[in-house]
Amino acid sequence: MDSPLLPLYMQLADRMARSVRAGTLKRGDRLPSVRELASQHGVSLSTAVQAYRWLEDARLIEARPRSGYFVAARPPRLPEPQVSRPDTASRMVQLDQLGAQVMALSHDPDFVSFGAACPGPELFDQDRVRRAMARAVMRHRDLLCTYPIGPGMEETRRAVARHALGLGCVLNPDQVVMTNSALEAISLCLRTVCKPGDVVALESPTYYGFLEILQSLHLRALEIPTHPRHGMSLDALQLAFETQQVKAVLSVPTLSNPLGACMPVPERRRLAAMLSRHDVALVEDVLYNDLAEQEDKRRAVKSFDTTGHVMICGSFSKTIAPGLRMGWVEAGRWGPTLRQMKAVQSGAQTSVLELALADLLTQAGGGAALRNLRATIATRVDQARQLIAESFPKGTRVSDPAGGFILWVELPESLDAAQLYEACLAENIVIAPGLMFSASPRFRHCVRLGVGGKWGPEHPRALRRIGSLAKALLATPRDGELAA
Ligand SMILES: Cc1ncc(COP(=O)(O)O)c(C=O)c1O
Repeated sequence: MDSPLLPLYMQLADRMARSVRAGTLKRGDRLPSVRELASQHGVSLSTAVQAYRWLEDARLIEARPRSGYFVAARPPRLPEPQVSRPDTASRMVQLDQLGAQVMALSHDPDFVSFGAACPGPELFDQDRVRRAMARAVMRHRDLLCTYPIGPGMEETRRAVARHALGLGCVLNPDQVVMTNSALEAISLCLRTVCKPGDVVALESPTYYGFLEILQSLHLRALEIPTHPRHGMSLDALQLAFETQQVKAVLSVPTLSNPLGACMPVPERRRLAAMLSRHDVALVEDVLYNDLAEQEDKRRAVKSFDTTGHVMICGSFSKTIAPGLRMGWVEAGRWGPTLRQMKAVQSGAQTSVLELALADLLTQAGGGAALRNLRATIATRVDQARQLIAESFPKGTRVSDPAGGFILWVELPESLDAAQLYEACLAENIVIAPGLMFSASPRFRHCVRLGVGGKWGPEHPRALRRIGSLAKALLATPRDGELAA
C-alpha cells in the first residue's frame, strides 16, 4: 500500500523497490527510461528522475553510462523495516534501567556485544591520534597547567568550521562553541530553546541517548513517522507544526540511529524552510554525516538555513577518536544564549585535547583514515546482513543503511525482543531491544545491532545464535497460548 505521508516520487520508488525485492524485477533487468517511467505512471519527468535517484541511493538499481537504468547486482536479501506509525500525541519520557544495563554490559569483555553504537579502537588510526596528542602537549608546554576559558581554542573552532564546509555549511568560527561531546551540545541546545513541558519532535525509533536527555530536561517527546531509508516524514512533521506547539525538532538527518535513514537533499531544503516559516528550532545532529557512503548525504540541513533556525551539533566520537570526547555546536540565532549557558554549565574543555583535535582535522591523512573506516564497516554490515538473512526467522526485516555500523532488525511481531535479550544474555551475548528506542512501548519485536565494535570469529557465530534463539522463542508457545 502506498503511504500518503510520502511524496509522490518516494511512493513510486517504494513501489519499484517492492518489485525488485519480490523478484518481479530481476538482477540486471533493464528498466524503463525516465521518460517511459513518467508516462507509465502518469508523473512528471522530475518525479521519475527523483524516484530513480532514490532507488540508486538505496542500491537497488544502477545507472550504466549511455545504457540506462538496471536492477542492481546485489539486491538486499531481506525486506526493509516498515515506515513507523507512532502516536500523534506527545508524551513525557519515563525510561527504566534497560538502556543503562545494555550499555554497561556492552563494555563488559565477557560478553559478545552488539549492544552499543560504538566503533572499536582498532577501527581508528590510533597512531595518528597518539601523534597529534603528543604534538599538542609538546608544542604548547604550558597548556596543561593553564586554566582554559571561553568557547574553545580559536585554532580548533577554525578547524571545525573548515570541517563543516564538507557538510555544505559556511560557519563563522567565532560562532562555534566547543563542547565535551555531541550529547553535551544537544543538551545545551534543548536547554536554550525549551522549558520543562515543551514538545520536542524526533524520529521514530530514535536514539536512546536523546530520550535520556528529554527525560532529564522534563521535555515531551513527539515521535514522527519515519521511513527506514528516507528518515522523518516532513508531511507528518508539517501536520504536527500545524496542530501542536512543537518547540524544537531533534533529528539525525544523515544515518539516523537506529534506522540508518538519510533524508533526501530536497527534503533537507524543505525542512529548513518549514522551520523558519513556523519559527521552530532544529537541533541537527551531524555525528554520522562523514560515514555516509554518498557525498550528497553528508550535506547538512544547516547548509539550507538562512534564518538561523538550525542548531548544528557534531562530534568526532564515531569518526576520529571516541576517547577525545570532543563535540561542537553552532547555535544559529540562539548562539549568544547557548554560549552563556555553556560557560555556566561546564566552562571550557581541556585545551590540549582541543589542539590535538585541530591537528587531526587539518593534518594530511584524515581523508584516507575515513575512507578506510567506511570501507571496513561497510564490509562488516554486508556480512552481518548476510548472516541475518541466513539465520533469522522468516518474516525478519532489516535496514540497509547507506553507511555507519548500526542495523535495525524487525522480527516477526509475535516475538518479544525483551525475551530474546534475556535469552542472549544467558549466552553472554548483548543486543539492544527495540523498547529502548521509543518513549512509548513500541518496537517490542525489534532489536538494534551495532556491528562497529570489537569483531572476531565469535561475532558471526553469535549473530547466527541470535537467529536460532529467536526461532526457538517463536516456536515456544507463550503462557496465554498454553492455557488456551
Ligand atoms: C545519534 C547520536 N548522537 C550522539 C551520540 C553521542 O555522541 P557523543 O559521543 O559525541 O556524545 C550518539 C552515540 O551513539 C548517537 O548515536
